[in-house]
Amino acid sequence: MKKFFLDLGSQPLANNYLHKFNNNQVRYNLKLYFDTKTKLVSISKRIPSKIMFNNRYPYRSSISKTMTHSFKKLSNDIKKKFNPKFLLEIGSNDGVLLKNFDKNKVIGVEPCRNLANITSKLGYKTYNKFWNLQTSKKIKKKYKQIDLVYSANTITHISNLKEVFKAITNVLSDEGILIIEDPSLLDCLKKNSYDQFYNEHIYVFSSIALRNILNKFNLEIFDIKRLDIHGGSLRYFIKRKKNKLLKIKQTVSEQIKKEIFFGLNKFRVYKKFGENSLKSKNRLIKIFSKIKDKNKTIIGYGATAKATTILNYCKIGANFIDYFVDTTPDKQNKYMPGSKIKILKYHNKLINKTDYIFLGAWNFKKEIFNKEKKFLNRGGKFITHIPIPKII
Ligand code: TMP
Repeated sequence: MKKFFLDLGSQPLANNYLHKFNNNQVRYNLKLYFDTKTKLVSISKRIPSKIMFNNRYPYRSSISKTMTHSFKKLSNDIKKKFNPKFLLEIGSNDGVLLKNFDKNKVIGVEPCRNLANITSKLGYKTYNKFWNLQTSKKIKKKYKQIDLVYSANTITHISNLKEVFKAITNVLSDEGILIIEDPSLLDCLKKNSYDQFYNEHIYVFSSIALRNILNKFNLEIFDIKRLDIHGGSLRYFIKRKKNKLLKIKQTVSEQIKKEIFFGLNKFRVYKKFGENSLKSKNRLIKIFSKIKDKNKTIIGYGATAKATTILNYCKIGANFIDYFVDTTPDKQNKYMPGSKIKILKYHNKLINKTDYIFLGAWNFKKEIFNKEKKFLNRGGKFITHIPIPKII
């Protein structure tokens, strides 16, 4: 049974940055549910994939040093530990992982044409397609079986999980390995980051829920690694149950134990998270109001999809935040969805003019604080809502 636990209100599509202030925008109600049987957390409203992942998708994985380093390190680990003959990446974005491999040994699948074009131009075979059974069959026909399938921050974006895993098991060799990574539900609840939820994040996985899904496809997790990426993610190493060559590591039972200890299998924990999110909203509004009462200026740093959830849930607009800065070319000179706050190209001159900065990209806090030492040294302050709204 699906039980409701949080209403994040009327929201625009999180990556639908507006070209013009007066552009029309689709809105939907963002409500979160916990399935008491499968333990899966999901959003209620499903926006068709073709609307979300179009030919102008703005998000670029290689935009931050943190992400580029993480994918480079993972590529080296994959080569060393698994030495795959052939790797398939589902949701290859701008090739941040593919680029670390030999062009003859990898292929990507990427539904957003603007992104698929980037890797194709670099000489990496990229299927400009959605990941489904049809795509999987096409790939199998050409490449036979694949011994490593990798997917980061993509599986949770696809509504039909049954088809996702059916399509994966269709191409994966008997001894093949599936590596997926996605934001961790445990981190999300511990940090009270309700902003992890938006139209593209249909699910936020716990390892408990993922294990239940995989079970239906005779797949099992044999190792788990926690990453700081995206505010806390889990990288799951998965194999077919019948493959006895790989032993199940203790990391799996340890993670499940941690999740059960926190109560991720119990509805009351989600109910509490819902209540905490409402408190977080009220506290953040108070902080913004107090700063504005003193006639101080606030700008936003990182025009993230997560920030869209926050701004629309808390009803924070241009009355509080003058503009956002972002390094992503496709977001610049556009407006934040819903709140319609202008996004400017990042320039340190803009940073040094303001009194306060709201951390939209709180998950890159370390990288940003390192970059903005000058701002901090002259007494500039950051505002974050993680784990509770505060000024730092
Ligand atoms: P994400 O949290 O969804 O990965 O998005 C991070 C956003 O923050 C992305 O639009 C790029 C932006 N960003 C900056 O503008 N400057 C930075 O220094 C970093 C790390 C990110």
